[in-house]
Amino acid sequence: MDLFEKRILIMSLTLLLFFFILVVYAATGLGADVPTCLPEAQPPEKGELIQLGDKRYQLNLVARMWTFEPNEIRIPAGSTVDIYVTSRDVVHGFHVERTLVNLMAIPGVVSYRRVTFDRPGEYLFVCHEFCGIAHHTMAGKIIVE
Ligand code: CUA
Repeated sequence: MDLFEKRILIMSLTLLLFFFILVVYAATGLGADVPTCLPEAQPPEKGELIQLGDKRYQLNLVARMWTFEPNEIRIPAGSTVDIYVTSRDVVHGFHVERTLVNLMAIPGVVSYRRVTFDRPGEYLFVCHEFCGIAHHTMAGKIIVE
């Protein structure tokens, strides 16, 4: 094995280790994980925000061409929200900016993620799966007060 080959191998292994450490850091340090799909769950009839307790909410979010229901919600800072996402027609996406919420909205299936909003502000959410002519208009916001 010549020197060049050795260097390339060492560089490749270092990069692999670096990326592996990043994945471990995202999973443990940042709390990122694979979104939960609940194939047995009954998709919610309508989109709504339900208060479960003090700073505890359940958000049933229904995606359809080309809107989210509801597309604006208000919660107090420090709230923990259980988000259940489904779709009425085609596959949509659901990403909330500055959070680790990144779900697929699939017809007949429910995707789930829990998130806590500690910082007040407006969190835009968007559809990130191309779903037709008005895909780019499909958005909403979570207002944390
Ligand atoms: Cu819905 Cu793109």
